[in-house]
Amino acid sequence: MREIGSEFCLSEIESVKTSNVLFWASHSNFVFSGRTAIETVLRNEKNIKKAMLPSYCCDSMIEPFRQAKIEVCFYPVYFDKSITVKIDIPNDVDCLLWCNYFGFEVSMPDIGAFKERGGIVIEDITHSFLSLKQFHELSDYLVASLRKWEPVLCGGCFVSRKSTKVDFKLDQPPEIFLSTKMEAMKMKSQYLSGTSDIDKNTFLNAFSESNEWLAENYSGLTIDEYSKQILLNADYQKQRNIRINNARILYEGLESNQDISFLFPIHRMDCPLFIPIIIANGKRDVIRKKMIDNQIYCPVHWPHPNAECQSNLYELELSLICDQRYNEDDMQRIVEVLNN
Ligand SMILES: Cc1ncc(COP(=O)(O)O)c(C=O)c1O
Repeated sequence: MREIGSEFCLSEIESVKTSNVLFWASHSNFVFSGRTAIETVLRNEKNIKKAMLPSYCCDSMIEPFRQAKIEVCFYPVYFDKSITVKIDIPNDVDCLLWCNYFGFEVSMPDIGAFKERGGIVIEDITHSFLSLKQFHELSDYLVASLRKWEPVLCGGCFVSRKSTKVDFKLDQPPEIFLSTKMEAMKMKSQYLSGTSDIDKNTFLNAFSESNEWLAENYSGLTIDEYSKQILLNADYQKQRNIRINNARILYEGLESNQDISFLFPIHRMDCPLFIPIIIANGKRDVIRKKMIDNQIYCPVHWPHPNAECQSNLYELELSLICDQRYNEDDMQRIVEVLNN
């Protein structure tokens, strides 16, 4: 049985120089991770005292604000038949973090008054990275973690949409981090292809080690050359097509499943990172476990951050895999396990 989900294996660098999906390749600044991207923007905007973040987010989105000693508060984002966002910005807030979710369209509430009084909007486009509509016009900065989309060792990027240039100097990541992650990805490839006798725990431990190192050391680092080449040469159009096709199979196959609702109707899909589903009545974790028993590893977005932010999504959401590594048969297997 083929495993579905979790970390990427090592891949060949592709050579698709003509990708027009990515406006940012020529404008953006690649950095080590999404957290580094947020940190760099905050270092550039030294006057931010208080920021408003979505109540549905991950701790790593909050962390750079903590490190910069910026006070944070939250606007509600929760599930009520569909995703619901309410924004009422207090007068002492000078920065808004807007987040796209999963590559589906969510319209931004009216923030005209906030912009007029000089408020700064940072948009986290991690999830809309391959969307045709990647960001909102009112955003001043775009930040993204690119590690979620491609087989890279590390990777994030930021774009300034303001006329002033972002001033930053970043160091290379250490060789030991890069080689540990590269080795883990290589071992996973060998394990999945069955060509060698690799103990799964060896690469799982190496992946955990890399992720732990990253969480402690993301600050002030740039991307490595290998990851940059992967990102600059990937066939994004092909990846978009596969993801959208896979997503349609999941939507169709799960349509009449009584335990499952979709966080978004399919017509709001642009290019999905995952397909977020809602599993009520406390059954989410049981169903997730059943999928693991069938070697399908679906993440939860997200574990509750270490902050005072409330959203029912932390208990209800499960992210179904639909990425470019998988085909129609894999999607049918996900559907069968869920419907069985
Ligand atoms: C939406 C979003 N933004 C930013 C980050 C932080 O990115 P990184 O883990 O690359 O630092 C994450 C991480 O999970 C994320 O999900």
